[in-house]
Amino acid sequence: MLIRVSNENYTTQKGRESWGPKGYIAYSKLCTHLGCPVGLYEQELQLLVCPCHQSMFNVTNGAIPEFGPAPRPLPQLPLYIDAEGNIRAQNGYDQPVGPGFWERHNV
Ligand code: FES
Repeated sequence: MLIRVSNENYTTQKGRESWGPKGYIAYSKLCTHLGCPVGLYEQELQLLVCPCHQSMFNVTNGAIPEFGPAPRPLPQLPLYIDAEGNIRAQNGYDQPVGPGFWERHNV
């Protein structure tokens, strides 16, 4: 999901300085608990909320879970803006999307 948190370049965590051009940041929508779509947003607290078991992810701090059963942050997609002004991905996610148990089926 694509979120604009600022009009300036935005860093959600150290090492991600180039990932949020013009304040646009993108996270996987698949909850890291059981894979529900994280589709709710608590604007006042800037938290993404999973409707299934209420995990809450901090948008401005790398989507780390602040509440609920999700064991790890939502993976962030590194973005850039090309010469025509289009928002594009620099490359893929830096970690697998979705719940951890999905990984076991790919071994
Ligand atoms: S699937 Fe998101 S909190 Fe359980």
